[in-house]
Amino acid sequence: METKNTPVSELEQDILKVLVTEEEIKTRVAELGAEIHERFAGRNPLFVMVLKGAFIFMADLIRETGLRSEVEFIAVSSYENATESSGRVKIKYDIQQDITGRDLVIVEDILDSGNTLAFLKRYFLTKGAQSITIVTLLDKPSRREKSIQADFVGFTVPNEFVVGYGLDYAQRYRNIPYIGVLKPEVYGS
Ligand code: IMP
Ligand code: MG
Repeated sequence: METKNTPVSELEQDILKVLVTEEEIKTRVAELGAEIHERFAGRNPLFVMVLKGAFIFMADLIRETGLRSEVEFIAVSSYENATESSGRVKIKYDIQQDITGRDLVIVEDILDSGNTLAFLKRYFLTKGAQSITIVTLLDKPSRREKSIQADFVGFTVPNEFVVGYGLDYAQRYRNIPYIGVLKPEVYGS
């Protein structure tokens, strides 16, 4: 493989293997955008992005939907720099508008244990949302602890910790343009 002499190549030295390529992501995000367009045509959904991991996916996805829509952001945490969910979800930054009667589209990077999305779904319904639609770039069904499913899934991935296209390990590797698995030695350092 030809080595690109770009800033990303330094980060890429820590990648063991690529699970989903840049091209595959682009194609799938366009498909999801079209499907979501169909689902919400003529309505005014509120896209709620779960910070920080979904930021690149969200940016690409909403441009592909071509919908008249709005965006909000919410930040939660349950990981605290580990690779396993602690099961407790805390809101660190909340959405800024009344969602009574709104159709919400929650955009997540990955559905893993399900703790985050189970919590958010309940939270938004309590706040008066009319409907909740869940879109996740990645799904790791083998890890589920809560019975929750996404309405739209980009890719189903095996039980491996992944980074890139917004997803981090200890806040790093979000700017790798594809989904990959880190070399084991990276976790030790
Ligand atoms: P859950 O609450 O266990 O479903 O975890 C969801 C959150 O954990 C996601 O929003 C991610 O931020 C993070 N997460 C879970 N698995 C991975 C992974 O493989 N790589 C990076 N982040 C992950
Ligand atoms: Mg994260």
